[in-house]
Amino acid sequence: MKKLLTIAVAGALVASVVGCGTANKEATPAPAATGGAAATPKADTGKKPTIGVAIYKFDDTFMSGVRAAIADAAKDKATVDIVDSQNSQPTQNDKVDLFITKKVNALAINAVDRTAAGVIIDKAKAANIPVVFLNREPLEADMKKWDKVYYVGAKAEQSGTMEGQLLVDYFKAHPEADKNKDGKIQYVMLKGEPGHQDAELRTKFSIQAITDAGLGVEKVAEDTAMWDRVKGQEKMAAFLASSENKIEAVLANNDDMALGAIEALKAKGYFKDNKYMPVVGVDATAPALQALSDGTLLGTVLNDAKNQGAATTSVAAALANGKTPNKETTGYDVTDGKYVWISYKKITKENMNEAK
Ligand code: GAL
Ligand code: CA
Repeated sequence: MKKLLTIAVAGALVASVVGCGTANKEATPAPAATGGAAATPKADTGKKPTIGVAIYKFDDTFMSGVRAAIADAAKDKATVDIVDSQNSQPTQNDKVDLFITKKVNALAINAVDRTAAGVIIDKAKAANIPVVFLNREPLEADMKKWDKVYYVGAKAEQSGTMEGQLLVDYFKAHPEADKNKDGKIQYVMLKGEPGHQDAELRTKFSIQAITDAGLGVEKVAEDTAMWDRVKGQEKMAAFLASSENKIEAVLANNDDMALGAIEALKAKGYFKDNKYMPVVGVDATAPALQALSDGTLLGTVLNDAKNQGAATTSVAAALANGKTPNKETTGYDVTDGKYVWISYKKITKENMNEAK
């Protein structure tokens, strides 16, 4: 009996060694299957891997587009389990714990608080589950905590620069937009969530683009409207109540807030009878494109939800399959071994079809 057991154990050992060898052999021909393949929790052969996706909140226009793109891109690649973190970091941490218990093959996380990424990385690393962050960029120090941490997003400063340039183009073509003829653009700024890279950098670089173009600027007011349309409307109504005759332009860190501002402006009689206010945003969401064609929104910047979602799925699926994400395995360029950057694009009424 004992001998039989020994033989059985030895047999199993041989089988597992042989199995191992075979797996490696199979992996070799694929140019992509390099680095870390052995250590990664691969999905069962022949079975689609499962990706646990946590979105910071479902009730966000732009992220709804990204969410749809993630699901769409997953169709033939992976099973995605997408959950709503309801704008609460503790809720998101619980969802991540649940994904880990369920032994998903990869995580895709749109952090509620980007400075909380470190905690999520520690958990993922302990369970050896690769993690792809998206839209809310973790701090560099956190990105360096583990080699199976990736980020898919867009360069916030690029969107800020483009947004500023949209106003520059308008003021150069319309000298009468400088209502008080002082050579400066008097503006109000509607900011996204403080601390979010897109809020901070869009605010900074949009203004820098204006000064870089040789135009003067003067801030009349600035406040956060938390990416939200209703809050954008309320804040803009307050700006108009206190300083309407000073304002020459409205910059919003995203389209939802820009559309809220447009509502407040409409209530004050703008966009008819030659009463106009240039308003710019970022995202190129469907309602923003509608506003462009209506002539209320002056311009926006395409935040490419489709490619951000598709890249997230691709990178997470590659990792789940034990592959190293690169151009061959994901279809996207991977920079610095960790980052996939999706480009922004300036959108006006003239080229809005490119954003559809
Ligand atoms: C930004 C986007 C905003 C909002 C935010 C959420 O990139 O422009 O509209 O969706 O992400 O993190
Ligand atoms: Ca002026």
